[in-house]
Amino acid sequence: MFRSSFITTWAHALASLPVIGLDLSDLSVKFIRFDERGKSIGVRYIGSADLAGGVMVNGSIEKPKELAGILANLKTNDGHKVTDRFVVASLPEEKGFIKILRIPRPKSENIDAAVRWELEGAIPLPVEEIYFDFEEVVSAGHSDHVDVLVLAYPRGIVDSYTSVLREAGYVPMALELESQAIARALIDRGNLDPVLIIDIGATRTSFVLMTREGIIHTSTMSVSGQSFEAEIAKAMNVSLERARELKVTAGLDLKKEGGNVARALMQPLRLLLEEIMRHIEFYRDHKKDRGDLQNSIEKILLTGGDSNLIGIESYISRGVKVTVEKVSPFSRVLPQMGQRLPPIPANQAHAYTTAIGLALRQIL
Ligand SMILES: Nc1ncnc2c1ncn2[C@@H]1O[C@H](COP(=O)(O)OP(=O)(O)OP(=O)(O)O)[C@@H](O)[C@H]1O
Ligand SMILES: [Mg+2]
Repeated sequence: MFRSSFITTWAHALASLPVIGLDLSDLSVKFIRFDERGKSIGVRYIGSADLAGGVMVNGSIEKPKELAGILANLKTNDGHKVTDRFVVASLPEEKGFIKILRIPRPKSENIDAAVRWELEGAIPLPVEEIYFDFEEVVSAGHSDHVDVLVLAYPRGIVDSYTSVLREAGYVPMALELESQAIARALIDRGNLDPVLIIDIGATRTSFVLMTREGIIHTSTMSVSGQSFEAEIAKAMNVSLERARELKVTAGLDLKKEGGNVARALMQPLRLLLEEIMRHIEFYRDHKKDRGDLQNSIEKILLTGGDSNLIGIESYISRGVKVTVEKVSPFSRVLPQMGQRLPPIPANQAHAYTTAIGLALRQIL
């Protein structure tokens, strides 16, 4: 994995402190704090708060005072005020860049300058305006070049997140891209075949392509819970509220609601399938570029609140002919949880995947 994320100077010294994993989305804030006792792990608390529209827009903090106020007064699901101060928080995927860059093998050990130079041309922002981090991708030995996986993020956004968190009284230990957190929660990199993770949330769907090399590609699209609801409302001439109920109760089940809900969902789902196909092809090309014809994506992992849509797993697996699974975002710590089971039902847990992955940064 990357050596660090975007921050912080003393994080390493405090690496064993318990932290809150804090997932900031456009419409909600979700958080979790684990609790380690010897080898046993439990959930100390979990919770969420809704955000009014306009506070966060496409991952940009538009109303920092309001957001800080909400963050300063977080309440857990069982009604307690959050008093812990150390947080690992998420950065919105759509604002960051994860890229594999092929750079001429530098003469000296200092690869930093070479990456910086190559980045200039690869991303649409001046290097002075970004934070970046990179790691060398281990691949078949080419002597004349190296592949590096680069993670870059606009400084303005990182700084705005840090400042709101501090304003709310927290100590940000690290900020990570959502994809890093999601991958940590769902995947043990030990023996990893290439996998595509799809997080279907309220306002967008994120794709994370993960291999033994790490995360090699991420992207987001606007097909989401909200667009499902908008299509149902339009096709069935019902309110958005009713559309949300229908989405949850009928989903893709053709036997429910005369199949009308399922039919209304076909258009956004077709877009989703096309995007999945693009990722599968991207991976094939990526492998071909490296002279490796063997591997293809053999598994898709679904997460995010809207991955609970009835019938979506089999719809996707039939559509793209790849196995689709929903894995619990607690799966990597379940063996250590023993009797201390997760305090929320499995389907609700899927909305907390990012928060869980963030909190696990200090544990796994
Ligand atoms: N049982 C269910 N069936 C279908 N959809 C569901 C179900 N339960 C929750 N959802 C949907 O999950 C969504 C919330 O998911 P999630 O918490 O992952 O989104 P988010 O992280 O807040 O949004 P984003 O990541 O897009 O900013 C809502 O659209 C909600 O309607
Ligand atoms: Mg989300």
